[in-house]
Amino acid sequence: MTEVLKASDESIGRAAALLRGGAAVAFPTETVYGLGANGLDTHAAERIYEAKGRPRDNPFILHIAEQQEIGSLVSCIPAKAKQLMDAFWPGPLTVILPSADVVPLTVRAGLPTVAVRCPANLWARKLIQRCGFPLAAPSANLSGRPSPTTAAAVLEDMDGRIPLILDGGPCEVGLESTVVTLAGEYPRLLRPGGITLEQLEAAIGPIEVDKAVLNKLEESALALSPGMKYRHYAPSAALTVVGGDAAAERIRELYDQAQNTGRNPAILACAGREGAFSGRVVYTLGVEGNDESMGASLFEALRRVDADGRTDVFAEAIEPRGIGLAVMNRLLRAAGFQYIHS
Ligand code: TXA
Ligand code: MG
Repeated sequence: MTEVLKASDESIGRAAALLRGGAAVAFPTETVYGLGANGLDTHAAERIYEAKGRPRDNPFILHIAEQQEIGSLVSCIPAKAKQLMDAFWPGPLTVILPSADVVPLTVRAGLPTVAVRCPANLWARKLIQRCGFPLAAPSANLSGRPSPTTAAAVLEDMDGRIPLILDGGPCEVGLESTVVTLAGEYPRLLRPGGITLEQLEAAIGPIEVDKAVLNKLEESALALSPGMKYRHYAPSAALTVVGGDAAAERIRELYDQAQNTGRNPAILACAGREGAFSGRVVYTLGVEGNDESMGASLFEALRRVDADGRTDVFAEAIEPRGIGLAVMNRLLRAAGFQYIHS
């Protein structure tokens, strides 16, 4: 049985005791819910791989409560990494740096580098403080499923697999953190997220965008960012992303075709676009161009699509700017790169 407790000083104490005992516990962050365990303990980290069914070559992010705690986890902090931490921590940014030996190889999947983030969510930070060690925490979904942005979504995937879920309400950002590596010669964006590329570049200048952000990569090109390899965030429904000038028209055709053959289709589009698809079922994302609202509803929409038994979902492509880059990155992965240009 998995217990769900509202986050409070008391339930945080309970969670910290479980974590000190080596268990994995789900907790809220401002991005998505995390499945945490002692990040300096190999056996505790194993609990996470088991509960998620996660492939062993996909490393975790270490979550800390204060910026200075990164000092003991990495072997160096380049100037640009310091600038990014000063600008965006606590917040939805993960930096990758050369690892210190103290971080178990299980946590970093054997890599010489480690991912670190200081979340903004106060419950998350209190929990880490109470534990006295960094929490290794991937998103608290079963591997391959959409990331959970509510405690109910965590329970859907984790019921019976972990002892406790701390409920801190819905996550504000709704998309995972931005992942930037500073372990190479140039800063490189590996995963777009809560902090936009534009914001990062305003802080430290040009950043390379990894090809895997919007493209399907060959096996050989994947060593840098293991997480990019898997079909992610995927609903059970068949999802297709449709882009180009005639996207709306093409989506109407595909939808009607599916309906006429006895399927149960739906459309994913930004709020305000319903008029282009009238008479059809539309699940809305946020308002295009409004970074706050854009990410917040994506994963909930993907989960609702399944709960409602939709068989075919057609998503209208989004301009890959601001949070739109992160939303397109998640949509394309959820679609297994099924993309139609029209
Ligand atoms: O917002 C978030 O980042 C959430 C919350 C819980 O903090 N966590 C999260 O973790 O999204 P996860 O495990 O679902 O995604 C971590 C990503 C993966 O794509 C992983 O491959 C990448 O970070 N990663 C971790 N360590 C890495 C490393 N040393 N080198 C390259 N990529 C790394
Ligand atoms: Mg994840």
